[in-house]
Amino acid sequence: MKFNALVSSESDKEFSLEIKERDLEELPEGEILIRVNFSSLNYKDALSATGNKGVSRNYPHTPGIDVAGIVKSSSVAEFSEGEEVIVTGYDLGMNTAGGFSEFVRVPKDWVIKKPESLTLSESMALGTAGLTAGLCVRRLINHGITPEMGKLFVTGATGGVGIISLMLLSKLGYEVSAITGKKESEQMLKSYGAKEIIMRDQFDEPLKSPLQKSIFIGGVDAVGGKVLSNLLTFTGQRAAIACCGMVNGAELNTSIFPFILRGVTLFGVDSAETEIEVKEEIWNNFADTWKLKHLEDEIKEISLSELPLEIDTILKGKQIGRVRVKI
Ligand SMILES: NC(=O)c1ccc[n+]([C@@H]2O[C@H](COP(=O)([O-])OP(=O)(O)OC[C@H]3O[C@@H](n4cnc5c(N)ncnc54)[C@H](OP(=O)(O)O)[C@@H]3O)[C@@H](O)[C@H]2O)c1
Repeated sequence: MKFNALVSSESDKEFSLEIKERDLEELPEGEILIRVNFSSLNYKDALSATGNKGVSRNYPHTPGIDVAGIVKSSSVAEFSEGEEVIVTGYDLGMNTAGGFSEFVRVPKDWVIKKPESLTLSESMALGTAGLTAGLCVRRLINHGITPEMGKLFVTGATGGVGIISLMLLSKLGYEVSAITGKKESEQMLKSYGAKEIIMRDQFDEPLKSPLQKSIFIGGVDAVGGKVLSNLLTFTGQRAAIACCGMVNGAELNTSIFPFILRGVTLFGVDSAETEIEVKEEIWNNFADTWKLKHLEDEIKEISLSELPLEIDTILKGKQIGRVRVKI
């Protein structure tokens, strides 16, 4: 059976994106064949689509680390035809043909039954960005950070992980400072719950000193680099930061002082390889007590053919909010 997919191809070290007809027989082995209804665009997809060999080694390749869809066929008893399911991460869209496609075939261990009170389209408004934001927030909560303890920061605040972290933390009663590079997004960030907006350039410079006045009890960091290095010096006693991204840089220049003089904890979050039970917990939370009523307001929904333009935008750091792909 033939179907359409966005394919990234390599020729003379140049990469190009095109919608191509593919055959189900070309899909990798796996117990579950899924008709994809929605996917979403994440930074990692943009890297995969444009030939980043650290993400995807072999081309031609179909990116897309997120899928929400309906089981078309299953060779195992746990899943049956017609069930609504979600797949995010593991190897999907990296070296396994991904969700920018009408069909994917995946191992059963990657598949989550969609919670009833979350629609397929809502699940891909969240996507990996939402899952990652949820994992970061879970880390902070499990560490014992409560709203009474002080304020939190969210970096990359207008991006996918940032905006969902902001919405979720403010829904849960935390005071959040949104750190952003986009002055023009101030009103939007306030409408999603930010108590204050701080321009990123204040933190985007070499470390001045290993400890500064403590301002934050922690935060969610989606950018890494100098921004995270600096923010570590502004966190207080027993603060916790959950970090997940590196758009500001992969290096972390720090000292031991925030850790041994203030007991600061730096958590790393890796959504792709998170245990399936923890992913299920996060999706169930988003379907229930973490339901984000404003999320739909900021979603941009596009088709497969509009992806190349959006991929360019996210790579330039100009993405605002989430992009859902209707397949
Ligand atoms: N570990 C994991 O499991 C996991 C999962 C998902 C994503 N990630 C990573 O998390 C990061 C964010 O992902 P995303 O999907 O939210 O991406 P995104 O939508 O592109 O958001 C990134 C945001 O970072 C800010 N930014 C852009 N360039 C920057 C720079 N040079 N320095 C500092 N900040 C900059 C921008 O927001 P402002 O203008 O508001 O600052 C941008 O909107 C990426 O590095 C991604 O790979 C990791």
